[in-house]
Amino acid sequence: MTTLLSVSGLSRRFSTDVLKDVGLELARGELVTLVGRSGSGKSALLALLAGFDQPDRGSVRIADLPTGTPPPWSTMAVLPQSFGLLDELTLEENVASPMLFGGGAVADAMARAGDLLARLGIGDLRRRYPGEISIGQRQRVALARAVAGRPKVLLADEPTAHLDHATIDLAVRLLLEFVGEGSACLVATHDPTLTARAHRRLELVDGRISEVQ
Ligand SMILES: Nc1ncnc2c1ncn2[C@@H]1O[C@H](COP(=O)(O)OP(=O)(O)OP(=O)(O)O)[C@@H](O)[C@H]1O
Ligand SMILES: [Mg+2]
Repeated sequence: MTTLLSVSGLSRRFSTDVLKDVGLELARGELVTLVGRSGSGKSALLALLAGFDQPDRGSVRIADLPTGTPPPWSTMAVLPQSFGLLDELTLEENVASPMLFGGGAVADAMARAGDLLARLGIGDLRRRYPGEISIGQRQRVALARAVAGRPKVLLADEPTAHLDHATIDLAVRLLLEFVGEGSACLVATHDPTLTARAHRRLELVDGRISEVQ
């Protein structure tokens, strides 16, 4: 088993103790969901794993990087709850951007971007801008961009929150194929479909993490 993310003793206090001694591991090939009530600390945990925030205690090790090293986008990609699309780029340019920043050929990057958008049912919108599409369509662009560069680890924050049932199925299939090609994905979610089809399930309650069946 290849461990791609290893976390131990992670604690974070804001006005209260939001995360208490959190530990988890993600192995290559795993799609793992993280559930918990609104405000339970899911996004706060993802921010620590991504290096966007610093823990009060504990360590995060990503793939083979030395502990505490901020991961490059090619190693760890993040799909934020608010998407983080670039408004001045078209949808296909947004999706292609991780591949282009990684030094990929433009034609290949644009072809893969078009393919990913088509798989999520929005291939015909690829030349539009984020301001010209719906929220659920923007969420799919952000998902396509998150997997486009084949990062080793993907942290996705409620990636299906604005999708209908049939489109959630497309998103889950894409995520399962993505991890099947050798990555790992941790998904914060309230979505029962996604949770049912994950390989493992984690839950945050009162700042503590546990495995659920
Ligand atoms: N930067 C911050 N400063 C102060 N408090 C914060 C900060 N970030 C998060 N919190 C607090 O930490 C708690 C957890 O927030 P978080 O955003 O992680 O919840 P969540 O589980 O992602 O919820 P949701 O399902 O609504 O997205 C909340 O009480 C929130 O107010
Ligand atoms: Mg959140």
